[in-house]
Amino acid sequence: MTPQADLNPLLTTPRLRLEPQVAAHAPAMLAVLADPRVHSYLPSNPPTDPEALRGRYERLESRRSPDGSELWLNWTVFRDSAALGTVQATVHPAEHLADVAYVFAPAAWGQGYASEAMQAVLEHLRATLGVQLFRASIDTRNVASQRLAERLGFVRVAEVKAADEFKGALSDEFVYERTAAPLG
Ligand SMILES: CC(C)(COP(=O)(O)OP(=O)(O)OC[C@H]1O[C@@H](n2cnc3c(N)ncnc32)[C@H](O)[C@@H]1OP(=O)(O)O)[C@@H](O)C(=O)NCCC(=O)NCCS
Repeated sequence: MTPQADLNPLLTTPRLRLEPQVAAHAPAMLAVLADPRVHSYLPSNPPTDPEALRGRYERLESRRSPDGSELWLNWTVFRDSAALGTVQATVHPAEHLADVAYVFAPAAWGQGYASEAMQAVLEHLRATLGVQLFRASIDTRNVASQRLAERLGFVRVAEVKAADEFKGALSDEFVYERTAAPLG
């Protein structure tokens, strides 16, 4: 089995440092997640309880789902000392499949940070964990996320009606996939 440190390692890119997410990142991430625009197309709302967020990150430090069958990998993305966002991968080892997601603070949008961070995570998942297929489920209204997925080489493969609970209603999602061939 891959050692814990190698599952969710520190990753670096020309501009960014992706630190394995830990409870100590909760205050910085609380600030990132405080802006309601972040949650426009997510089922979540801005977190209000710092201790609850810290507790959630602490549980995620196990890097596994409660039943142990999935890897739950999370990184906090920093530029210098500023936390810009987070990247998440749910790895289904038996299927060589990873579901990926990303959330960045509005101040960091439009500068290629999400794309740069995601490329590093996809390459890690492919090269170190043997993932062969990446998948992203994106609200049909979330054009910025769809553009990012397409820039990363993802292709829309399905539309799922009423896919997720969304603030008292149901939301539709597009499913995007990308094989894990090296980028570029
Ligand atoms: C989804 C999300 C991460 C996309 O962020 P983003 O800023 O559009 O994505 P990037 O950081 O890759 O930036 C892309 C833009 O920066 C530009 N860019 C790319 N590389 C760049 C670079 N090196 N320097 C400067 N700009 C660059 C690109 O031109 C691109 O603009 P374009 O879309 O007009 O072509 C962001 O909207 C977000 O966090 N939303 C809230 C949470 C959310 O909905 N998450 C997705 C759930 S499925």
